[in-house]
Amino acid sequence: MIPAPLLVYVSKTGNTRTFADYLSSKLSLHIDDFDADITNYDKIILGAYTWGNGKIPKDIKEFVIKNKDNFKGKKVYIFGSGYSIYPRFCGAVDGLAKIVTDCGADVQWKFKFEKRFIENEFQQDELDSLIKKLIG
Ligand SMILES: Cc1cc2nc3c(=O)[nH]c(=O)nc-3n(C[C@H](O)[C@H](O)[C@H](O)COP(=O)(O)O)c2cc1C
Repeated sequence: MIPAPLLVYVSKTGNTRTFADYLSSKLSLHIDDFDADITNYDKIILGAYTWGNGKIPKDIKEFVIKNKDNFKGKKVYIFGSGYSIYPRFCGAVDGLAKIVTDCGADVQWKFKFEKRFIENEFQQDELDSLIKKLIG
């Protein structure tokens, strides 16, 4: 049996979590923390807020670096919450994408949103396509 995608995310004040909750309401996921063993999964979803001038939060950055030798060939999906008043809006999403790509992963999508994810602020087609790429 193909395991459900792995979801690992960080959310300090709950905004990033809003999209993790949306994904969990749409498909079966294995949600884990930074001890997760990514070798067991083909699909890995990473979620992160952005801090201090586009930075990746330390704990998820360390998670990715710890697993750097095991990202090769994995399908990776990355989302994040940020505030667009900052010059590097959702910079952590781009930073994580760069690291996992350098490790040989195939980034399937990046999804950035302002503050909290609110479903009806997005085109349904766009959201459907995110879910479809995760299921397919
Ligand atoms: C000190 C500080 C620095 C921040 N830096 C950025 C940034 O560089 N880019 C960005 O898009 N958002 C930035 N933000 C906004 C957060 O990413 C935003 O509040 C996010 O929704 C927090 O997500 P969380 O509720 O999941 O922790 C910053 C917020 C704070 C308090």
